[in-house]
Amino acid sequence: MYIQCSHKELSILKKIAQAATGLQVPCYLIGGFVRDSVIGRNTKDIDIVCIGDGIALAHAVAKLFTPKPVVNYFKNFGTAQIKILDDEIEFVGARKESYIYESRKPQVEAGTLKDDQDRRDFTMNALAISLNQEDFGELLDPFNGIEDIKQKIIKTPLPPAQTFIDDPLRMMRAIRFAAQLNFTIEEKTFDAIGENKERIKIVSGERIADELNKILLCKKPSMGFDLLYKSGLLKIIFPQMVALAGAEYIDGKGHKDNFYHTLQVVDNIAEHTDDLWLRWAAVLHDIAKPATKKFEEGHGWTFHGHEVLGGRMVPKIFAQLKLPQNEKMRFVRKLVELHLRPISLTKENITDSAIRRLLFDAGDDFDSLMALCNADITSKNKQKVKRYLENFEMVRQRCAEVEASDQVRNWQPPITGELIMETFNLPPGRVVGDLKNAIREAILEGDIPNEYEAAFNFMVQKATDLGLFYKA
Ligand code: CTP
Repeated sequence: MYIQCSHKELSILKKIAQAATGLQVPCYLIGGFVRDSVIGRNTKDIDIVCIGDGIALAHAVAKLFTPKPVVNYFKNFGTAQIKILDDEIEFVGARKESYIYESRKPQVEAGTLKDDQDRRDFTMNALAISLNQEDFGELLDPFNGIEDIKQKIIKTPLPPAQTFIDDPLRMMRAIRFAAQLNFTIEEKTFDAIGENKERIKIVSGERIADELNKILLCKKPSMGFDLLYKSGLLKIIFPQMVALAGAEYIDGKGHKDNFYHTLQVVDNIAEHTDDLWLRWAAVLHDIAKPATKKFEEGHGWTFHGHEVLGGRMVPKIFAQLKLPQNEKMRFVRKLVELHLRPISLTKENITDSAIRRLLFDAGDDFDSLMALCNADITSKNKQKVKRYLENFEMVRQRCAEVEASDQVRNWQPPITGELIMETFNLPPGRVVGDLKNAIREAILEGDIPNEYEAAFNFMVQKATDLGLFYKA
């Protein structure tokens, strides 16, 4: 066998070979599995291409396993899938057309192995291993994919423009693989991305989001984002991020390039967490800087309110990028909105109530917020970095102290709306909300302790001020 694979995988491949021999259909292991085995990376899906009917082969393979796995197939596309333990195995008949997932063209013309390899995205993904009796395990590498893997180069088998026109998502795949594997995109191939970038517009937002997320989950996401930027793709798929790029100068005073600052923050957070949404918060934390930028005489550049406007931009950007509109989005929005708060608490004479408010607003996401703030320190000045980190540590400590005494981080109001309605015989309405808010404010301000009795007495006092009648 040219590649290394586990005992379990080898036994699956042998069964596939056995079924193919029975059907007299030549078949090959191809694509990501071969690539990842050569690289020594964890592999997941097994892709099989056969010179014949892929669905029939899948059925024949399934029969060789007990229990017999279910065969899911798509007749129009001639593809079938079975799952054996954790391994997803995909079968397809060799074809002349490209691997366009959303192609609405149901008829695919059968082809040879070479036709099939021609129409794959990159030389490293066109490697095939024979599963045929006469040369089982032998490598078929018509485009020197192995050499490209050794040289860490991403390159298309056909002239790049053709490969990208066939399926424009491949432009993003090239960049995503470069970022995941730390490979270089061959110059001609990269130039072709720039030349064909407009075609990304025909690709569905969901597939683009999938690639963006994979880039963001890389060890060093900046590499992928920078390539997206330099190729011109980012301007089309996510123009708000490109608007961060560059620095303006007035009276010799400039501001930092917020695009590269953002990329640094994303890399910093990536060292700390694999949480995709915390990484998105890093991408978006300064997104409203271009919209809030002003040059103020005597002050220089300011970005007042960029955290508030940025928070408001999050739902729109998530919708535009086909990211979810659920609690993940709300988490990102909250972090963008709060990302300046801990910094504002590093000054002297910060009151407990300001600390309490931060704990209350951040709630369960307090640690994520502090991680984002740490990642946001990108100064090259070591002294400054040290000072910022110490300040944040101080904020953390103050927060821990206040939380220990007041428990506001996951605050549940000591007085519920129902109790307010019952006590004053009120219907649901604004007054109930006003009373609840007044109690919360009093607790956060430290006017009363976070306890039932104090809150109840405060409520009665407040209600009396409002002219409500209370019968003890
Ligand atoms: N492929 C292609 N063009 C695409 C998508 C896929 O040519 N736009 C081919 C490649 O040969 C690829 C194979 O189909 O190796 C399997 O595709 P897929 O499972 O999406 O990708 P992998 O290469 O396995 O990698 P990953 O799972 O990381 O996306």
